[in-house]
Amino acid sequence: MSEQLTLALSKGRILEATLPRLAAAGITPTVDPESSRQLIIGTSRPDLRLLVLRATDVPTFVAYGAADLGVAGKDVLLEHGGRDLYEPLDLGIAGCRMAIAGCPGALAAAQHRPLRVATKFEAIARDHFARRGRQIEIVKLYGSMELAPIVGLADVIVDLVDTGNTLAANGLETFETIQSISARLVVNKAAQKLDNARVRELIAAFEAPDQTVGAP
Ligand code: ATP
Ligand code: PRP
Repeated sequence: MSEQLTLALSKGRILEATLPRLAAAGITPTVDPESSRQLIIGTSRPDLRLLVLRATDVPTFVAYGAADLGVAGKDVLLEHGGRDLYEPLDLGIAGCRMAIAGCPGALAAAQHRPLRVATKFEAIARDHFARRGRQIEIVKLYGSMELAPIVGLADVIVDLVDTGNTLAANGLETFETIQSISARLVVNKAAQKLDNARVRELIAAFEAPDQTVGAP
């Protein structure tokens, strides 16, 4: 069992929503993770440190045990596959939805051929359309997905939608919501078994954000 528990977080939306939850449990980082270039950050709890990662890398660090716990969007977890991870808690933060969108009329226009789908969420898109029995071709992108239908690169996109402003600003409409997305606490399966008391205590800290847990 290691000296410290390690919690993996990502800058941006996840960190912004997670820090208040930690603060409510009496846990504060020793430096501001948003502005600091430090990638390993101590906390007010000597037995807890933070790793600051790319959002998509959080499940990998936790699955390999480089971090005991992590906070990641359900989208990222579905793409990763979730092997070697427990997902004990829906934190209800960083909420949005995974949706199929495109230019008006795009689905009807493609009904007699494979649908060309631009996305960075390849596993989610493949799984969804396979369930529907709909043949697709994936165009893998890493950002600015909304451009793809406009310039004829794809019929539709599978992407995250929050306010809907990006779709509206680009003249796109939602055809279907695949599922609601929120951030989840994930735990390495071995850490959950070997370090059960401390891991459970930290899960409880996230569950009961109004209480100071684990303070000396
Ligand atoms: P990466 O650095 O790997 O590209 P990212 O920039 O998408 O990740 P964030 O923007 O911080 O990282 O998003 C982290 C998580 O926040 C997403 O995985 C998703 O679950 C959630 N989220 C909530 N609203 C949105 C949104 N409008 N766009 C993207 N992600 C959102
Ligand atoms: C995300 C997502 C959409 C947009 C949705 O992009 O990919 O483009 O936010 O949010 P909205 O419905 O509130 O407009 P992000 O800003 O993370 O940039 P990205 O293209 O780098 O993923």
